[in-house]
Amino acid sequence: MTTHYFTASSLDGFIATPEHSLDWLLKQDFDTRGPMAYPAFIEQIGALAMGASTYEWVLAHDEGWSYRQPAWVFSHRELPVPDGADVRFARGDVREVHAAMTEAAGDLDLWVVGGGELAGQFADAGLLDEIWVQFAPVTLGQGAPLLPRALDLELVDVARNRAFLCGRYRVLGAL
Ligand SMILES: NC(=O)c1ccc[n+]([C@@H]2O[C@H](COP(=O)([O-])OP(=O)(O)OC[C@H]3O[C@@H](n4cnc5c(N)ncnc54)[C@H](OP(=O)(O)O)[C@@H]3O)[C@@H](O)[C@H]2O)c1
Repeated sequence: MTTHYFTASSLDGFIATPEHSLDWLLKQDFDTRGPMAYPAFIEQIGALAMGASTYEWVLAHDEGWSYRQPAWVFSHRELPVPDGADVRFARGDVREVHAAMTEAAGDLDLWVVGGGELAGQFADAGLLDEIWVQFAPVTLGQGAPLLPRALDLELVDVARNRAFLCGRYRVLGAL
């Protein structure tokens, strides 16, 4: 079982603008059947985790809840749950949640959807194995950070998918 952080980023390491906009990302050309694309990735995922801002973005923008996997949402607040969604709220230590996700996922892998600070909390606990990043051809200058930690990584795969430079990294530990 592998825990992945799979995300798109600006070239300068931001996954959203300060206003939580992804317009810079959604306008890019991407082949969903191409290398390191989302449809093949999500097939191997049995449970996912995300922070409150990411969850609120999904609720506001996606056309209905698209995840069939159980999702753990980290928040200190009470947030709505879409009809039919398997959403479980959590707060604090990620280790208990990781254990519950592992049990729920069976033979499948885990996905930390974001944001970067939450992925960092999994890395702090030694529970983040792989980072997949699709770098869009933009710089944002500021915004929500990709991964605000100092980590040593090993590059295990690289590809171009139309506008995106895609890298897959193994997490070796703290730098
Ligand atoms: N580019 C991409 O592919 C991509 C991927 C994922 C996300 N995004 C975007 O990136 C942005 C990420 O936002 P963000 O940096 O604010 O990160 P986030 O992880 O989505 O949300 C942060 C919030 O999660 C809650 N949280 C995190 N850890 C917690 C813990 N251990 N216990 C309890 N609550 C915890 C807190 O919410 P409260 O205290 O307010 O409850 C915190 O303010 C969003 O706009 C999202 O849509 C982009």
